[in-house]
Amino acid sequence: MTISGKELSAKLKAEMAAEVAAFPEKYGRVPHLVVILVGDDPASISYVTGKAKASEVVGIRNTTIRRPADISENELLDLIRQLNADDAVDGILVQLPLPGHISEAKVIETISREKDVDGFHPLNVAALWQKQPCILPCTPKGIIKMLKAAGVEIEGKRAVVIGRSNIVGLPVAKLLLDRNATVTIAHSRTRNLPELARQAEILVVAIGRPKFVTADMVSEGAVVIDVGVNRDPETGRLCGDVDFAAVEPKASVITPVPGGVGPMTICCLMENTIECFLNSRKKGRTDA
Ligand code: GUN
Repeated sequence: MTISGKELSAKLKAEMAAEVAAFPEKYGRVPHLVVILVGDDPASISYVTGKAKASEVVGIRNTTIRRPADISENELLDLIRQLNADDAVDGILVQLPLPGHISEAKVIETISREKDVDGFHPLNVAALWQKQPCILPCTPKGIIKMLKAAGVEIEGKRAVVIGRSNIVGLPVAKLLLDRNATVTIAHSRTRNLPELARQAEILVVAIGRPKFVTADMVSEGAVVIDVGVNRDPETGRLCGDVDFAAVEPKASVITPVPGGVGPMTICCLMENTIECFLNSRKKGRTDA
């Protein structure tokens, strides 16, 4: 079975749109997401456009701020500080990657934790690993939602995550662990990776290499979640980290690329923006 992230995200966005429609009367305005795009990398432009379109569908106000690739680190940090202080802004997202002269770590830690819709701030990451309330990073959150929607039981399963990035590999492993899977985190240099991957009942791949996972790495009936977004070197078309045509017949459940995890990431970004908006409303009441 192929899980369509496109369909699931459309359903969830429609539900959010109904919720947000009541906000102007309830709270006086709708949530506001500010996306900062530095430079003109085509992939980043496409992601940012996707975020603006989803905001429109859900009824969230979206402001995309574009800055040239040669903006100084200080100017960018000042812009973030201004947005932190602006009560009319609920979520701030700086599209990554950034040009080499700007420290991504500094940018991420400058975004106010309360407005960190990506869930990348060190305090959010720490809260996740300490099982404290936090903003969950969008892609891992979207993956768990897809597994749930497909009726995949996580508890007790053997999961292998290939990839150890802060954005996907590590947090998705943590979310699976919290749901009582037994998790192994692997990477491109893991010895005997095919043998390890074949032990997975749930295999998550986030490594960024086209068709990295071949049929011999997947056991019959495995659940395969493909987080890769690559260009197929032969056709130039978008493809995942999994050789879909070869693996799909073996998998009980698999996500396609495009139309799998990607739309769920954006859907969870919308959810996180609403969460930040509602959290600041609650906080406002407590402070009053
Ligand atoms: N670049 C690729 N994915 C992401 C993401 O989820 N958030 C941000 N800010 N940048 C990205």
